[in-house]
Amino acid sequence: MSSVNDIRSTFLEYFRKNGHEIVPSSPLVPRNDPTLMFTNAGMVQFKNVFTGLESRPYSTAATAQKCVRAGGKHNDLDNVGYTARHHTFFEMLGNFSFGDYFKERAIELAWNLITKEFGIDSRRLLVTVYHTDDEAFDLWKKIAGFSDDRIIRIPTSDNFWAMGDTGPCGPCSEIFYDHGDHIWGGPPGSPEEDGDRFIEIWNLVFMQFEQISKEERLSLPRPSIDTGMGLERISALLQGKHDNYDTDLFRTLIAASVEATGVPAEGERRASHRVIADHLRSSAFLIADGVLPSNEGRGYVLRRIMRRAMRHAQLLGAKEPLMWKLLPALVGEMGRAYPELVRAEALISETLKLEEKRFGKTLERGLGLLADASADLVEGGELGGETAFKLYDTYGFPLDLTQDALRLRGIGVDVAGFNAAMERQKAEARASWAGSGDKAAETIWFELRERLGATEFLGYDTETAEGVIGALVRDGVEIAGAGAGETVQVVVNQTPFYGESGGQMGDAGTIVTEHARLVVSDTQKRGEGLFVHSAVVEAGRVAPGDPAVLTVDHGRRGRLRANHSATHLLHEAMREVLGTHVAQKGSLVAPERLRFDVSHPKPMTADELRQVEEMANEIIVQNQPVTTRLMSVDDAIAEGAMALFGEKYGDEVRVVSMGRAVTGDKAGKPYSVELCGGTHVGATGDIGLVRIVAESAVGAGVRRIEALTGEAARGYLAEQDDRVRALAGALKVGPAEIVPRVEALIDEKRKLERELAEARRKLALGGGGSAGGSDPVRDVAGVSFLGKVVTGVEAKDLKGLADDGKKSIASGIVTLIGLSADGKASAVVAVTEDLTARFSAVDLVRVASAALGGKGGGGRADMAQAGGPDGSRAEAAIEAVAAAIAG
Ligand code: ALA
Repeated sequence: MSSVNDIRSTFLEYFRKNGHEIVPSSPLVPRNDPTLMFTNAGMVQFKNVFTGLESRPYSTAATAQKCVRAGGKHNDLDNVGYTARHHTFFEMLGNFSFGDYFKERAIELAWNLITKEFGIDSRRLLVTVYHTDDEAFDLWKKIAGFSDDRIIRIPTSDNFWAMGDTGPCGPCSEIFYDHGDHIWGGPPGSPEEDGDRFIEIWNLVFMQFEQISKEERLSLPRPSIDTGMGLERISALLQGKHDNYDTDLFRTLIAASVEATGVPAEGERRASHRVIADHLRSSAFLIADGVLPSNEGRGYVLRRIMRRAMRHAQLLGAKEPLMWKLLPALVGEMGRAYPELVRAEALISETLKLEEKRFGKTLERGLGLLADASADLVEGGELGGETAFKLYDTYGFPLDLTQDALRLRGIGVDVAGFNAAMERQKAEARASWAGSGDKAAETIWFELRERLGATEFLGYDTETAEGVIGALVRDGVEIAGAGAGETVQVVVNQTPFYGESGGQMGDAGTIVTEHARLVVSDTQKRGEGLFVHSAVVEAGRVAPGDPAVLTVDHGRRGRLRANHSATHLLHEAMREVLGTHVAQKGSLVAPERLRFDVSHPKPMTADELRQVEEMANEIIVQNQPVTTRLMSVDDAIAEGAMALFGEKYGDEVRVVSMGRAVTGDKAGKPYSVELCGGTHVGATGDIGLVRIVAESAVGAGVRRIEALTGEAARGYLAEQDDRVRALAGALKVGPAEIVPRVEALIDEKRKLERELAEARRKLALGGGGSAGGSDPVRDVAGVSFLGKVVTGVEAKDLKGLADDGKKSIASGIVTLIGLSADGKASAVVAVTEDLTARFSAVDLVRVASAALGGKGGGGRADMAQAGGPDGSRAEAAIEAVAAAIAG
């Protein structure tokens, strides 16, 4: 018996031998199609190749594509578990021709694979074609040798395949297998076609058109081929089973839940095992592709799937979280074909456990309420919409979980009543935000948030994605369009642009639609869940409803990532060097630098700064991958994650870990662990280098450091180096001698300054320089009087000069008038000790000041100083003092 894994490889190998490129599965979240919730067919990743927008280096390809059909056009969720062939997650095997071969070769390749390679009995096969497709009809006759009755013409949309409401489409031809008349059912197109006897195994789509809108359909540039064969179905058939859940892969998964719960696979809990096996696959693959449970969009579909599985785990009697225990079985079965499952195993496991823990608490109480509320209902009855809403609102029961719980009893749910209750709650919320006065300007964002739903952020995994423009806003008002040169705020349904938060600045980049190009300078979060892009229309005209390609400025984002990750490393290094009292008080992560405020009572020394920088750089050099996990706040804090004061955290938080601690208690454990919603480098080596460039105070007990990383840090170092070189050149020494040389120069300068002051003093007090040009000392009424006008001596040095003067005359009075360059004067009068009883320096200096046009002056009896505006009266001031002494 061929295993599912063998069948997958046989398929791919067959097409490889036939000249096809084997292309890996694309992610479940389509990057190239904003209208699709999940990748739901093999052709999704090639959509733009079919329409001619994109070209690839090959014209034929084959894939095994992961698909999810839950939510959107193709939604199988409700049936899963109760039927033999419904899945939320499945693998689609497909071969594709992009304008290479068409119908004939496609039919030939398919026929040979199933009848020759797979060895399926051709007598059991029959096919359908679109009713007008004579060409396909004739080809089947020719290639398979079918009689007319085995080629059934179908006039309905069953034989016209479309990816969604828009996109590539075309008539198709389906291959059916007849399981034999022991099973009830009729061939396709017959009244019994819904029976299980005739099973579709392969759909060949002859891609010829592109649906642009409901009314408009264009021809594709070149007719192409898209085929899809569910791996689960073909495996069942090749393993001689009638039921997909009886294949080896599903048996392994079901065996795991049987073992964990002790409840047999068959019997009354059969559906629960099947639901769990199926939902484990979709949950695990969705989480591996970046979807996390939430209350909106893709995250909500995931949550619905997970909660549906959890209710069935509860039906199997599981008291503890169960799903995560089954994960190793899934990874064992599918990890080789899909290595992303192995890479994300820890994240998947934690996410499953977390959701089960959280939901487990309310599940039981909700089910109790449901049992009471439905106790009186009988088959054909209906549960009230209010009760269903209460279960949703208070107990977190998605509507389909409630429906599923009542399904086996044949009881329905009043969906209209449920919707009405939901609407009423929204209206109440609306009234509350509309009434909060100061938020009036923000009202527009709440309105849009309610109408459009939250923006889905894709930027952890990609820097480019397609979105649909939901609204354009200017000055708080929605506008119908914007043209070249105009500024506009853009809301889209999903975006790779990071909205400013947690200190990290918003992203910049471009938004390109078919008719316009916008340059985004910033992205902000508004209205609790909207990402608002501030943009200028560079060319063309943009309008709501336009599909757009959003591309983040890669270089800028790279610098933001590096600076954000470096902030975490510096934070931890500061805690190690300065102590654990260090807590982050604020940060700014900009593309060109980072700024980081922490509580610490005193300036950091040069030594501490160097140690912090060294530690951070050691982790950078480790070049370990940076890991992100999703946890409950309590678990994260229990694991030692640093939660930042004042940040608002939801139920779940992202926990970012980087580096390995080498020494201390944490040796071998992650170096830095923080709760953080920001974007980070892939591995610490991507930071390149971190360099602290400033340390300062920003308030009592708060220090601020500023740092550069990567290219900016290197540029900074190069500039410093240039300066050192220039200095060495100017000083004519080698770089190593700059410091001693500069110290010597400073010493020399001080010495010279001292000598200069001395020389000036001597010059000032020496002969000459006074108005009379004679010896400045004379006798005034029996007192030695030294009166002199000095220039080139600073006011602060006048007193020293006056002291010198006192010494030179031994007993007497010194009066010096200093003149400054701008013509002002200052006066100093000094009286030797023996004369202070008769003369006060203070009185005398006031006389001098008055003569200089000034007023006042002060000091002591032996030394006083004053100023005056009129330097031209310097000699007169000296004479006035002499006259005052003379009495
Ligand atoms: N795209 C086609 C399908 O999904 C093959 O059935």
